[in-house]
Amino acid sequence: MPNFTAADLVELFRKELELCKVTEGEELVILAEPSSRSEYVEAAFAAGLALKANVIQATLPGGSPVPLPSSRTGSGAGLTSLDDSPLALSLLQGADLVLDLTNEGFIHTQTLGKILDAGTRMLFVADPPEVLARNLPTPEDKALVQAGAALLKAGKELRVTSPSGTELVADLVDSHPGFQCGIADDPGRWDHWPSTMVLAWPKTSHGRIVLAPGDILLPFKTYVRDEVTLTIEDGRIADIAGGGDARMLQLFFEDANDEEARFLSHMGWGLMTRADWFSMALYDRESLMGMDARGLAGNFLFSTGPHPFMNRHTYNHLDIPMRGCTVEIDGRAVVDHGRLLDLGNL
Ligand SMILES: [Fe+2]
Repeated sequence: MPNFTAADLVELFRKELELCKVTEGEELVILAEPSSRSEYVEAAFAAGLALKANVIQATLPGGSPVPLPSSRTGSGAGLTSLDDSPLALSLLQGADLVLDLTNEGFIHTQTLGKILDAGTRMLFVADPPEVLARNLPTPEDKALVQAGAALLKAGKELRVTSPSGTELVADLVDSHPGFQCGIADDPGRWDHWPSTMVLAWPKTSHGRIVLAPGDILLPFKTYVRDEVTLTIEDGRIADIAGGGDARMLQLFFEDANDEEARFLSHMGWGLMTRADWFSMALYDRESLMGMDARGLAGNFLFSTGPHPFMNRHTYNHLDIPMRGCTVEIDGRAVVDHGRLLDLGNL
């Protein structure tokens, strides 16, 4: 953890908690598991006290039956110990803000809804300190992603093309557009620091996605080396063609042996202007969630597997951010050849 002292981390968490509108007398629960980054737990605790919040640290037994033997995948089931502890669940439901410092978070779990429905706001933090600091959100980020989500909500069709041959059309009707901005400041809101993205959950899509060298496969945290062509029929990956990377994806779906895994999940674009596409090449994979890749400004991010609005709850989840795509909503570009357009000028 070069260049980050304990004081630096406390200051970093204090800024983030202020963005999340943590105020004097609020109930702040710092949720951890035994293998959580202890320096984050300590820094968040100190930051919460500095803001005069009522701080409670809760450490639950670790363990999450993720389909992949890795932590920080973004696809996990969260801590199953929470499912077995009504007391812990009620603590989180009673909090104003839960700072989730577990390794996997509760991103695609049904437990998350039980916490948020109580009005609790929740912020998940898993990336290394340099990644957090570089991508510390600003209040302006929220307005930008809200504008993007409004465009999706008003739209009928999302169209994605790329120089390598991507030609995908997704249905935006009833696609539950949303956003992440790295700030959990509204009651019942879940967010992820760092993240700045707009996304929707299309119920169907058709066409072809062609992954190009340099695109990224998550949670494997690898860069695509050779072109992969995915044929999409009615929101499902019907065929995978290409070389070594295509074979890897074919094996992933074979091993998953899960029909839900082959359906497309959320898709959208990134707005995180200080994200570093190459951080994954420089860090130990276990230490990164990979939000630089997911949130990079001007990427197109699509995913496979879980789809809460189609009642699919599989944990076999791929996030695949792509570079150089053009993303259009009803013919209006929001990303042009990988360049994020200013929504104010549309
Ligand atoms: Fe995802």
